[in-house]
Amino acid sequence: MNNVITRLKTKTVGLIALAITICFTAIACSGGGSTQATPGISPEVAVDYVHTVLLADRTAYTKHVVNRLKKLEGKDKADGVIPAEATEGWEEAGGVPLPAQMFRLGSEVAAETADEKGIGFTYNLISTWNINDSHAPKSEFEKKAMEEVNKTGEPYKEYQEIGGQKYFSALYPDKAVSEACVTCHNTHPVHLERFPDKVFKMDDVMGGIIINLPITES
Ligand code: HEC
Repeated sequence: MNNVITRLKTKTVGLIALAITICFTAIACSGGGSTQATPGISPEVAVDYVHTVLLADRTAYTKHVVNRLKKLEGKDKADGVIPAEATEGWEEAGGVPLPAQMFRLGSEVAAETADEKGIGFTYNLISTWNINDSHAPKSEFEKKAMEEVNKTGEPYKEYQEIGGQKYFSALYPDKAVSEACVTCHNTHPVHLERFPDKVFKMDDVMGGIIINLPITES
């Protein structure tokens, strides 16, 4: 099990590093002032690449790891084949992380790598119906973007400035792609206490993946 997680994590970080390289090469090239047309990738497209990788790994982990376990957050899973549990307290329980925790673990590794490279690139999960307080939409940008994504089910993209640094930011819908997403959230004690009227269905927008690409203007 640990091998699977390590492999998934290594793959995620590798692909994100590749996407960042493409993105920053593109930005560097586009500011070159050369008379020749240089091939480049716009931030709108670069952020789509990053999101494609993040969503692919998130979905693959939920479908092919979490969904095959015999236990999900204390409840037996009838069609589970791996004798392990996905649970919030995975470290103490000897289990595996929940999809959102796996996503955060990856984002922490990516943030460290981005720091080492001096490129302040970040991503995170947010939701109007958050279980974890740190996932509430906080900035004006996040609040507006989350509202739009909940309404349209489509990504929301815009430039923003944080502490004097310009970013191209995008919020992509995080949808209920597997029955496990819906069951676990709808029955979670914090969800039931905070949002008793919100019952998720398959394919609903459950939150969003926010990606912030720093833009260097030359
Ligand atoms: C077995 C339970 C479980 C499963 C399965 C699960 N989640 Fe979660 N999810 C949680 C918990 C608990 C949190 C908060 C955990 C944390 O971040 O510490 C969370 C966090 C989230 C968040 C961030 C907002 C928040 O509530 O804090 C989103 C969005 C989300 N999940 C969507 C999904 C989607 C989409 C799926 C399926 C791909 C999924 N979840 C599968 C339990 C689950």
